[in-house]
Amino acid sequence: MSLIGREVVLGVGGGIAAYKSCELLRRLQDRGYLITVVPTPSSLNFVGKATWEALSGRPVNTHVWENVHTVPHIALAEAADFFLIAPATADLIARLAAGRADDLLTNLVLASDVPKMLVPAMHPSMWLDPATVANVETLRSRGFMIMDPDVGRLTGKDIGPGRFPEVPAIIERFDDITGNVQDLKGKRILVTAGGTREAIDPVRFIGNKSSGKQGIAIALAAKNRGAHVHLIAANFDTSALDGIEVSKVESADDMQKVLTEQFPACDVLIMSAAVADAKPKNASLQKIKKALLGSIELEENPDLLASLASIKKNQVIIGFAAETKDHLQEARRKLESKGLDLIYVNDVTGGAIFGQDKTMGTILLRNDADIAVKEVSKDALGNLLLDQAIRQLG
Ligand code: CTP
Repeated sequence: MSLIGREVVLGVGGGIAAYKSCELLRRLQDRGYLITVVPTPSSLNFVGKATWEALSGRPVNTHVWENVHTVPHIALAEAADFFLIAPATADLIARLAAGRADDLLTNLVLASDVPKMLVPAMHPSMWLDPATVANVETLRSRGFMIMDPDVGRLTGKDIGPGRFPEVPAIIERFDDITGNVQDLKGKRILVTAGGTREAIDPVRFIGNKSSGKQGIAIALAAKNRGAHVHLIAANFDTSALDGIEVSKVESADDMQKVLTEQFPACDVLIMSAAVADAKPKNASLQKIKKALLGSIELEENPDLLASLASIKKNQVIIGFAAETKDHLQEARRKLESKGLDLIYVNDVTGGAIFGQDKTMGTILLRNDADIAVKEVSKDALGNLLLDQAIRQLG
């Protein structure tokens, strides 16, 4: 399973280990998870709301009585793909086992049926108390994944089971639950996205409708799976792409320069950019007067994919095609003539797919195999293409 949904509710119980969840939150974000923190009211004695809001960049509520007009306990429960509750105190575990709903976090847990993981932390006598043991058993029997706390020194002098586990150990268990496989660790993925602009004069250009959304989704999916990602971005907003190396380009020529530099070291090239097929032969340095705009002489742009495919070593090369007619035949022709390993084609009749969050189309492979992709998010398609790339890398 690939990471597709990554919305996580990070529940924080009222124990001293709450401060360690600040680090946990950061490391989860590094791995592409999108975190909403829901602290219990008592946990705010250890770490305040302001800290969670600053770290997560999202509003933080503890009660169902805040922002009532947004019905937070239902809205958040519906948005969440996973729950991670860390630290889970004896009291919080008891309230969850009893099915109580006396703060926002416990309301959310009841209102959502997505996978939930608890990371208990408390004094050893509380962890070993028969009431806690029975509550943990009950929650496990209901499908909660509950980590065993570490054995070691606690806040005082006591030693025993109850310590909050190390953050990497928590993340490893959580990744198992979410399926956030790090199967691209050590791989370099080069992605192009957006649409090139070919200058007519200093204010006008030949462009296209590509929004860059598909390429961004691929780049983020590859990053989440552990790859080093270089995104060549043609004409879209590249803020919020933490952890991804970005080269901004405007024209096909600019894109070719960066591709030529980056291609030899990459393992996979995914060419989702819409490259303009032609450019004005002589871009004017002065703004052209409208009376002279009747005709613009064009010349063909080089085929970037075809030229890279001709010098490739072990790289896997993935192309895209957006067609309005005979899309499977056209895509197979491009797959073969450009020397690609795989192509994804979608039918864009009437401007469909451009700028949308969802896509549907067909993946075509070299061995005549086709994989139909029913309507999925662009994130999901990114992961499907990466699955194929990994298979071909061997
Ligand atoms: N492509 C490229 N260089 C170009 C044009 C396209 O590398 N000059 C890449 C695109 O990024 C895409 C694939 O080739 O991954 C197919 O693009 P498309 O525009 O459909 O192909 P063309 O060869 O331009 O065919 P058409 O005649 O349909 O425009």
